[in-house]
Amino acid sequence: MTTSAPIVDCRTDAAAGGHSPASRGSAPYYQHGLVTIYLSPAEELLESLPACDLLLTDPPYPDYEKGWEIPDVSWVLGNIRAKKKLIFWPCLLAPPLPAPKAEHIWEKPNGRSAHWYEKIYGYGSVQARSKIYRVAAILPNYSQYAAECVNHPCQKPLKLIRKLIQETAPTCITDCFMGSGTTLVAAKEAGIPCIGIDSREEYCEQAAKRLSQEQLNLAQNGKASDAAGRMQKEDENARK
Ligand SMILES: C[S@@+](CC[C@H](N)C(=O)[O-])C[C@H]1O[C@@H](n2cnc3c(N)ncnc32)[C@H](O)[C@@H]1O
Repeated sequence: MTTSAPIVDCRTDAAAGGHSPASRGSAPYYQHGLVTIYLSPAEELLESLPACDLLLTDPPYPDYEKGWEIPDVSWVLGNIRAKKKLIFWPCLLAPPLPAPKAEHIWEKPNGRSAHWYEKIYGYGSVQARSKIYRVAAILPNYSQYAAECVNHPCQKPLKLIRKLIQETAPTCITDCFMGSGTTLVAAKEAGIPCIGIDSREEYCEQAAKRLSQEQLNLAQNGKASDAAGRMQKEDENARK
């Protein structure tokens, strides 16, 4: 999907190449076309967030120490207005919200010891059928995903996120713990408006870079196909 909307780029001088101060809170950190990123604790944006069709998110797990200050994740998830919710969750903890409609398993064939699978809970108007998704995890030394790996400690595989989006067919998506922006990349590819939030600037920056790279790839592919079209026309003219 191409769009002529201007890019709002509020990254720090170092990150953005020297123009604007970082924007925290309710002003977007990055906005282009269908994608908006906020640099903020999600709990501080709850009141200003528009309702969405799908909340697809992978929270900082309450039992997993990454040096993050873990918010009251269940409270945040419960207070985001969304018709459907798909929420990644540790295999050994009780669901983050009451009464899930579906309980999916993400099985990682390359997972390590205690982390061979995670849960993905479905709430609201999602399909009731529970499924097993077998998709390799992104590990820094896993060559299959070397090109995709951006060095976020919990980056999710695009293949899995694409599939979840495809099966849910949402009209708009929010990821309130977006990390490196995998949900946003998949949403953008599918032409679905998406909001991402992260409380750490380094991850907002990582996500913004991934999305800008996507833009570049699209533009380059566009240029390549323009050039191919021109060559084909010249070829046809030459044959006349
Ligand atoms: C498990 S990671 C998400 C990874 C993401 N799915 C990806 O593919 O890169 C959780 C993210 O939540 C962020 N986070 C932690 N506390 C937060 C809060 N209060 N509000 C918003 N984001 C928060 C962390 O910085 C981290 O990037």
